[in-house]
Amino acid sequence: MTQLNPGPRDVSHLLGDLNSSGADREFLAHAELHLPRLHELFVRLYGERTDGLERLASVVDLARRSWTERPRALKALDRERDSTPDWFESERMLGGVCYVDRYAGGLSGIRDRIPYFRELGLTYLHLMPLFESPEGNSDGGYAVSSYRRVNPALGTMEELASLAADLRRAGISLVVDFIFNHTSNEHEWAKKAVAGEPGFEDFYLIYPDREMPDAFEQTTREIFPDDHPGSFVQLDDGRWVWATFYHFQWDLNYANPAVFEAMAGEMLFLANQGVEILRMDAVAFIWKRLGTTCESLPEAHLLLQAFNAVLRMAAPGLLFKSEAIVHPDEVVSYVSPDECQISYNPLQMALTWEALATRDGRLLQQALERRHALPDGTAWVNYVRSHDDIGWTFADEDAAELGIDGYPHRRFLNDFYVGRSDGTFARGVPFQENPRTGDARVTGTTASLAGIEAGDAGGEDRVVLAHALALSTGGIPLLYLGDEVAQLNDYGYADRAAEAGDSRWVHRPFRPEQNYADRTDAATPAGRVFSRLSRLLAVRRSTPEFAGNELVAFDARAGSVVAFLRPGDGGFAVLVAANVADSTVGVDALTLSGLAPEALDLVTGAPVWLGAGLTLGAHDVRWLRVRPR
Ligand code: GLC
Repeated sequence: MTQLNPGPRDVSHLLGDLNSSGADREFLAHAELHLPRLHELFVRLYGERTDGLERLASVVDLARRSWTERPRALKALDRERDSTPDWFESERMLGGVCYVDRYAGGLSGIRDRIPYFRELGLTYLHLMPLFESPEGNSDGGYAVSSYRRVNPALGTMEELASLAADLRRAGISLVVDFIFNHTSNEHEWAKKAVAGEPGFEDFYLIYPDREMPDAFEQTTREIFPDDHPGSFVQLDDGRWVWATFYHFQWDLNYANPAVFEAMAGEMLFLANQGVEILRMDAVAFIWKRLGTTCESLPEAHLLLQAFNAVLRMAAPGLLFKSEAIVHPDEVVSYVSPDECQISYNPLQMALTWEALATRDGRLLQQALERRHALPDGTAWVNYVRSHDDIGWTFADEDAAELGIDGYPHRRFLNDFYVGRSDGTFARGVPFQENPRTGDARVTGTTASLAGIEAGDAGGEDRVVLAHALALSTGGIPLLYLGDEVAQLNDYGYADRAAEAGDSRWVHRPFRPEQNYADRTDAATPAGRVFSRLSRLLAVRRSTPEFAGNELVAFDARAGSVVAFLRPGDGGFAVLVAANVADSTVGVDALTLSGLAPEALDLVTGAPVWLGAGLTLGAHDVRWLRVRPR
């Protein structure tokens, strides 16, 4: 398989066609750099198909037209990004995420919040899915009926584009989801596929009977078992369609290059509205092959690289953020400058909670030591929690090295965080408990999981500790807006019909007005948490050691202490040390003897003498500027 069928057309022909199509010089320069790669990826993905080349030619033409239409301000941004390719690795980067309706009523409400976002120091704003999606069957917007229409309850596409411009002027990059693994069953492609309309029959994976579904389900995993067993759902006419998530979210068939072309069109459309980062939803699931788990197959990577190559031609300033909540080996496999430049760091997130529950920092410390490194030109997105459940995605083989057995340990963590074990400080809710496999995940806001809801004395400290880690390990820290004012779970979801069946709504509350009003009042949890986090945010953005991803694990010789160095210039580094235990712990002078004894506490501004060791109170976290000797 060396070229796309049929015929002798190759990259030079495609470039020649572009030359005579009137494409501008800038586009031609992009194409010369990236079209060879796109061609090669098409050969690997679609080399066996007769329509591979035709589709590639259409994709290239689409990219050319999209570049022509790309607003001037966005082309200027493309050039700026090109000259500062490490812009997203800066210590000034800070992300926030919210639901448009819940946090601000609509897009215009989001615009009204820009002054607050600036006060926090946001440079990245992820607006949760805001596209048209079926009433009642929307999976919080992750079932998309049109990528070109905004949910009318939130605003319009024109408003989104103008909001993107306003945010950009405020130094904030707009992030939206690119939900490209599946569409809602009400998307026009889905309707046409079911009706057998020519050109759409193969957009989804639809089978006449159970033969193929049964064969696939031998090896696939159930993702939303509360909704339906297996990976398929039955249509009214008796056929079966692939639906990894909810029954109304149908997986697209990327083995068909027409699907790639169609999605590339939607992606470029969004890019030209001023979106700067696309959160690539559910990347692990986009390619299926019989006899496999149908997760993280090699073609999933090729597809992402192909989408990336299209972007580099037509909207080169954009980044992809990977959403792969899977085994840590797989998570990192999506991260590269040619694929997804940034990625959620689900391992650090989950292990932060693991450490708080066990009061043992060793698994997290081990992960920082061996699983934190990334290729140059990429970054983690570090978060304390997201809009989704917490899954315990650590590697069993890593845990085994520390004498921890993965299966019972996950059970312990689930019981602990849903408030079922004795002495727990957490108030979480189970999500997708699967009695057959014993699998379950946990939902809850940071404040509720950390103990504030339960009135635990360490609750506020744990919220601060978890954020201090996300802010200091390297990459883009991402705040779930509302957590900075200690918002609690919203149990009201259980009374709302569209949400009752999905416990993730417990941690997607409406904007907590009272907490925000209290944020300057030190007599309230909201006020105390906000003022402590604000201090950390300010210190982070003026600490150059926090840029980039370089991290050297520091063995504090105390199981409850997670510690690492972030090297900087001039022989200095920042030592981060966090004690996850409920009691005071000492790090002795000998352990610290590789550091000069004079240090500076960046948070309090006070000098620290390491010559006598370091004492960390319960849930204490320190950011010290030190000089390794
Ligand atoms: C991602 C989203 C999640 C959604 C799923 C299906 O995992 O984060 O909220 O349910 O994709 O789109």
